[in-house]
Amino acid sequence: PPLDEILNLHDFEAVAKAVLPPKAWAYYSSASDDEITIRENRAAFQRVWFRPRILRDVTSVDWSTTILGCKSSLPIYISATALGKLGHPDGELNLTRAAAKHGVIQMIPTLASCSFDEIVDAATPGQPLFLQLYVNRDREITKKYVQHAEKRGVKALFITVDAPQLGRREKDMRMKFVDDGAGAKVQENQKDVKKDQGVARAISSFIDPSLSWKDIPWFRSITNMHIILKGVATPEDAILAYEAGCQGIVLSNHGGRQLDTSRSGLENLVDIVAALKTKGPWPNPNFAVFVDGGVRRASDVLKAIALGASAVGVGRGFLYAFSSYGQEGVERAIEILRDEFEMNMRLLGARSISEIVPEMVDASALRSH
Ligand code: FNR
Repeated sequence: PPLDEILNLHDFEAVAKAVLPPKAWAYYSSASDDEITIRENRAAFQRVWFRPRILRDVTSVDWSTTILGCKSSLPIYISATALGKLGHPDGELNLTRAAAKHGVIQMIPTLASCSFDEIVDAATPGQPLFLQLYVNRDREITKKYVQHAEKRGVKALFITVDAPQLGRREKDMRMKFVDDGAGAKVQENQKDVKKDQGVARAISSFIDPSLSWKDIPWFRSITNMHIILKGVATPEDAILAYEAGCQGIVLSNHGGRQLDTSRSGLENLVDIVAALKTKGPWPNPNFAVFVDGGVRRASDVLKAIALGASAVGVGRGFLYAFSSYGQEGVERAIEILRDEFEMNMRLLGARSISEIVPEMVDASALRSH
């Protein structure tokens, strides 16, 4: 369908499913084992209800914010999703260019199809970018990569901590990996690549399962970028991250692609915020809490913010947008979300992000399952 008939982010998913080659659809849409967690990621948002406030003069509303010191036109960043060229010949550059035009922040994946430098070169001067990091068994490679990123102006390092081994995404595993040029360019030192068990396994053999809390000071010693741990799921680990001197965490289950039947980030948010409140000021200007997983509507984002998130990450929403319509699809997705923010904030009675408070949601049913 023509792009102007796309009315919401779900529509992109339907188009992507119809137009993508089976291998790409399997890699993008799959989640681990029985795909319970990916389902819960969506369902959790539907168990939080709004408590809208009325008569507040909502003529002008402002949904812009600051994420890790960087201006963002939306309280959303583009989360890292690997292998953009499986979906579109321009791969991740679709996101970079759309993000530049609309003032949104992109997190570059370690396993991007385009090289890191191609992506940074496509950005406009001063465009804020984050980097997602898979840590290599060969720490020299990781050190060079991180320091190069900092030199090129990347603002924050999101270390993925929920993937010491990739989950079994069985839809993907049924496909054979054929290197047709979409493969990741950055970590070409991979040895013993297994090509008979899907895309994910073929590209991830370099990831170091020995990564531990002891490595955090080393990261601190090699970079001045903000360090965020992506994939935290418990108050215990949230506090360890805080005490280790990280600048934030992402409550994430990797889009349901790692440990199946782990709780959604939204469900974990309430307990984690409560735990962090015992450790310091709240909201804490030096420690950000992000959520990702299943976000498809501005209303989802507003719920997460009300419950204490600084901003949220969106993965498949933008991935499906560029898979079906390239850069224009991503731009349309951003515009749709912007319109949804305007309407939902007016209806909720919040004129700015700071006016979105816990009292605006009823989360009593969130953990009743
Ligand atoms: C991901 N995600 C991911 N995360 C990460 O840290 N490194 C990676 O390489 C990838 N790759 C990746 C590929 C694909 C196809 C998907 C769908 C996801 C996880 C991603 O950053 C984010 O946590 C989830 O996508 C959020 O859930 P939604 O928005 O996809 O529902």
